[in-house]
Amino acid sequence: MSNKFAGKFIVLDGPDGCGKTTQCGMLRDFLADKGAQVKSFRDPGTTVIGERIRDILLSNEHTAMTTPTEVLLYMAARVQLWHEKIAPALAAGKTVLLDRWLSSTCAYQGYAGGFGIEKVIEIAEDSLPRPWPDLTVILDVDTETAAGRMPGKLDRMEQKGRVYHNAVRQGYLELAKMRNLAVLDASADMAAVSQKIIEIVEEADF
Ligand code: TMP
Repeated sequence: MSNKFAGKFIVLDGPDGCGKTTQCGMLRDFLADKGAQVKSFRDPGTTVIGERIRDILLSNEHTAMTTPTEVLLYMAARVQLWHEKIAPALAAGKTVLLDRWLSSTCAYQGYAGGFGIEKVIEIAEDSLPRPWPDLTVILDVDTETAAGRMPGKLDRMEQKGRVYHNAVRQGYLELAKMRNLAVLDASADMAAVSQKIIEIVEEADF
């Protein structure tokens, strides 16, 4: 049962339309083939409380929501996810794979929303026992390609427009520089991107 990935916390993150949900599924299969016991979760969501917060965040009815409100709601969902699912899974030696995490709040609210990346990190450090995963891979994609991968009906965050989403991308790149996160070009086809993610995960110095 013990393998390189046991007890490790891995995050795939990136702008809307970067393909990370598909890539999480492919990485999960790879890790499971390697004998890891994988638990994969989405942020915001997964817990009952987190899914309700997610509905509030993404509802198109909530156009009045401010950026600080977004920060606190995303963080609240994340804190619940940490305590209810992630911490117990890591303690049991599982490999935890997350579709988004703190890096999203840094890029969306911190950078694109103007709240400040450092301020987001301060709140995370005050509210999460462990804000940073063992490995974060940022799937970088240009706004044009990303827009073509978005669903027909857009939620409140997806609807924020081209300028905002371009800033989200810049926010990820800024954060990656600050925290030395892995960044890869996710505009290639699914199989090629998956192969690159697997290489990064296999070469990670856990
Ligand atoms: P998802 O559809 O990829 O699960 O993400 C939900 C939306 O919420 C997506 O548009 C990105 C956005 N988001 C933030 O703005 N801040 C955050 O901290 C997180 C986790 C997601």
